Amino acid sequence: MPGIVVVGAQWGDEGKGKATDQLGDRVDYTVRYSGGNNAGHTLVVNGEKYALHLLPSGILSPTSTPVIANGVVIDLDVLFEEIDGLEARGVDTSKLLISANAHLIAPYHKVLDKVTERFLGNRRIGTTGRGIGPAYSDKINRLGIRVQDLFDAPILQQKVEAALEQKNHLLVKVYNRRAIDPAEVADELLAHADRVRPMVTDVVRVLNDALDRDLVVLFEGAQAHHLDVDHGTYPYVTSSNPIAAGACTGAGVGPTRIDRTIGIMKAYTTRVGEGPFPTELLDADGEKLRTDGAEFGTTTGRNRRCGWFDALVVEAAVTANAFTDMFLTKLDILTGWEKIPVCVAYEVNGERTDTLPMTQTDFHHAVPVYEYLDGWTEDISGCRTFDELPRNTQAYVRRLEELVRCRISGIGVGPSREQVVMLNDLL
Ligand code: GDP
Ligand code: IMO
Ligand code: MG
Repeated sequence: MPGIVVVGAQWGDEGKGKATDQLGDRVDYTVRYSGGNNAGHTLVVNGEKYALHLLPSGILSPTSTPVIANGVVIDLDVLFEEIDGLEARGVDTSKLLISANAHLIAPYHKVLDKVTERFLGNRRIGTTGRGIGPAYSDKINRLGIRVQDLFDAPILQQKVEAALEQKNHLLVKVYNRRAIDPAEVADELLAHADRVRPMVTDVVRVLNDALDRDLVVLFEGAQAHHLDVDHGTYPYVTSSNPIAAGACTGAGVGPTRIDRTIGIMKAYTTRVGEGPFPTELLDADGEKLRTDGAEFGTTTGRNRRCGWFDALVVEAAVTANAFTDMFLTKLDILTGWEKIPVCVAYEVNGERTDTLPMTQTDFHHAVPVYEYLDGWTEDISGCRTFDELPRNTQAYVRRLEELVRCRISGIGVGPSREQVVMLNDLL
């Protein structure tokens, strides 16, 4: 069972890092295939907390080779900060491989991300401000800078000049900012060239060879299905393809090499940034979920918007990603509610729908229809088998499974590596 993809089934922060970490030492390669340091994956291993943004979670496993593939956008300052931070804590990062085709986030991408958000005013996306959108725009516009450009200084200089030509007009004339000097940017990027060089390799070849040898390759999604630029709540999305199929374009493996796709879903719903969110709670219940679940962004520290579990949102992700398994996280956070509402349908303009509306307009007007499941008061954080879970907790899990139309193979009952209940092996 060598090719496995892990994908968030909601709007991110489902606990992908922890779920990936479960496969840990049985994985030969852990690959990031999309996004950049807009991600924030928190793992708790032996009581130590790690927050990863750009590196795959597999970096913490001594037997797995971490890979940053072509679909990722890399901020080199962040990359080396993260590497240095982990090395200082005794984590060996020397096996990291980086694709020569991955694009770089340049300083001007970060500037543009922030000024465009400011200019959008109340139409802003609520981005992480890490330069993600502008870096992917340049990639699609064929004005991007790739890792391999670091090894040809004159070419890099030319490419940075080309990328900045229009942007400097925009910065000065529209956004009232200072122009950016291409030579300075090129020098800043080149300063990392020697350090990055030994990590750069033909990732497509490495991964396909590994799959030929039946090694286990885990593609670790960042963001989530509903933040996907094609399938998410556009325009309130990120600028890449976090869905399972994104692993194929983002790492150069054919679709037939993916054997298993695992969706990660939280026992309730959260979202960071703007955009529709039918089950959002703006009252004390939402505040309680935020406090109990510590729902504050790993990357930007922003409050995460919180609401009840929305089965329509997850079911849409199950359909488009063909998930073979779901991993349900943060079930422990729901302990203590007498009744737990679960959204099983929407009402849109007085009509009931059991699937996600086709249009953005309808989605914005969707009113959740709730089913009220019985809660539980027992502490479940020490449970390690399904049988140990209280009856009502079991019923909650089984009902979600029915609603999203996919089997639940793992359940998180706490932030630590060992706080899981496994129902089916993920490998
Ligand atoms: P990711 O972006 O999908 O990797 O998720 P984040 O790391 O941004 O957010 C998930 C948070 O929930 C992290 O702080 C995890 O340590 C924590 N977490 C993951 N699974 C569980 C769980 O089952 N129970 C509890 N209480 N916390 C969890
Ligand atoms: P992980 O991997 C939650 C959201 C931002 C914003 C939108 C676009 O930790 O689940 P961007 O900076 O990507 O252009 O912002 O996407 N967003 C995330 N929300 N978790 C993430 O990553 C996210 N990455 C981006 O808040 O709404
Ligand atoms: Mg996160």
